[in-house]
Amino acid sequence: MTSLEDRLRDIVGDAHVLVDRDVMASYESDWTGRFRADARCVVRPADTAEVSAVVSACRDDGVQLCIQGGNTGLVGGSVPVDGAVVLSTRRLSGIGEIDALSAQVTVGAGATLSAVQSVVRAAGFDVGVDFAARESCTIGGMASTNAGGERVLRYGTMRAQVAGVEAVMPDGSVVSRLAGLPKDNTGYDVVGLLAGAEGTLGILTQLRLRLVPLLPGRAVALVAVGSTRDAVDLVVAARSLSTLEAAELFYADGLELVCAHTGLASPFADAHPAYVLLECADREDPSELLLEALESAGDVVRDATVASDARGRHALWAYRESHTESINAVGVPVKLDVAVPIGELAALVDALPAAVEAAAAGSRLVLFGHVNEGNLHVNVLDALDHDDAVTEAVLKLVSSYGGSISAEHGVGRHKRDWLGLSRSPEEIAVMRGIKASLDPQGLLNPGVLL
Ligand code: FAD
Ligand code: MLT
Ligand code: ZN
Repeated sequence: MTSLEDRLRDIVGDAHVLVDRDVMASYESDWTGRFRADARCVVRPADTAEVSAVVSACRDDGVQLCIQGGNTGLVGGSVPVDGAVVLSTRRLSGIGEIDALSAQVTVGAGATLSAVQSVVRAAGFDVGVDFAARESCTIGGMASTNAGGERVLRYGTMRAQVAGVEAVMPDGSVVSRLAGLPKDNTGYDVVGLLAGAEGTLGILTQLRLRLVPLLPGRAVALVAVGSTRDAVDLVVAARSLSTLEAAELFYADGLELVCAHTGLASPFADAHPAYVLLECADREDPSELLLEALESAGDVVRDATVASDARGRHALWAYRESHTESINAVGVPVKLDVAVPIGELAALVDALPAAVEAAAAGSRLVLFGHVNEGNLHVNVLDALDHDDAVTEAVLKLVSSYGGSISAEHGVGRHKRDWLGLSRSPEEIAVMRGIKASLDPQGLLNPGVLL
């Protein structure tokens, strides 16, 4: 009987079955360095048919598969379990013709966000989701985690951008719904089920994306405020701007880490407790109305700087987007992406330090996030030895404020054991039933989500 590796080589070609430990290393650990395992091998199929053949070969041998796109996931869902085959979607990177009439495009699951952005922007369109991992994260991974990012305020999360998918199911069959009809009410929402399933129900190989108009007129404001409450008040007021596209939040300690790591000069002469970044976008420069909104916000605004030129805007975004790498440069954090009703955000931020200190004495808490959605990124440094205690403390606190244990990163393997804080036993039973009927052998992404 030929080995599984040899059968995989027959399917994808020798060059696309990786077995060398050093070569596999980058596929075996996650972006933060917090999760890792020993894969049996890495296989890189070129198209849906090869993905289907790989799935059937692994199923016949009872060998589990872990699906990987850009491996920028932050909840331990993109790395293998020991002995599993990593199926990398990186070669599924095609980008189809833009359908200008329906404002849609079909892309390979392995296409990176930035590659799709440059193609569609050249044609006057844009992708409705954007965030700092754009160079590496893939459209398939973004759909699988129902990623959020910086434009949810205006365009929603990744699921809202997905008009259709092609996917290989655990039995090797191919589901293909790529027509992208705006109205197609014919039964269960298979597309919506697979988007956000974190690779546990099927392997996305192609996606039909809804595109949004490219808006060249952009203005960014970085606003210094005195507290989380002031930040929330400012964002709620700014929502009256029809051009508002992003509202982000970070704090003095995170800004200090960013300036130390990147060498950026502090944005203002004085340090302030908290900072809000607002971005407005339209066909023309929206600075005027943004400045008026800041004026009318009164003394909530301690200081502010506004930029509408590309360089100036990117410089202001760098303070926010450099948080993840600047924190990781200091050490591997326990990362918890959570959401609470925006009215509870200030109370959560006030309660976190004591809860985290009790779970991991002497640890360092760094917060930032997408304030409009009440989405906070809780990063706890010097706490890896207390990962479970910190996770338990933070997720229970979030749940006590009526929040979600995962706002946009998904559940992965990291938060699986706390799923019950956000989903009822009945809902989890339904999810288990779906998993059991579609993947009875537990072939795909073992331990992720359930
Ligand atoms: P991977 O990490 O490879 O995989 C993620 C999950 O999806 C895994 O469970 C994997 O098995 C599954 N998967 C991947 N591809 C497929 C497929 N084709 N079919 C089925 N399952 C698949 N996330 C946000 O939501 N908002 C942010 O603002 C944000 N900012 C980030 C900034 C940085 C610097 C970094 C490093 C990460 C950030 N992330 C953010 C997290 C991450 O980028 C997202 O979760 C992204 O969606 C992961 O895409 P990926 O291609 O890297 O997927
Ligand atoms: C972000 O908003 O920058 C990301 O979700 C990454 C993170 O949480 O570190
Ligand atoms: Zn985020």
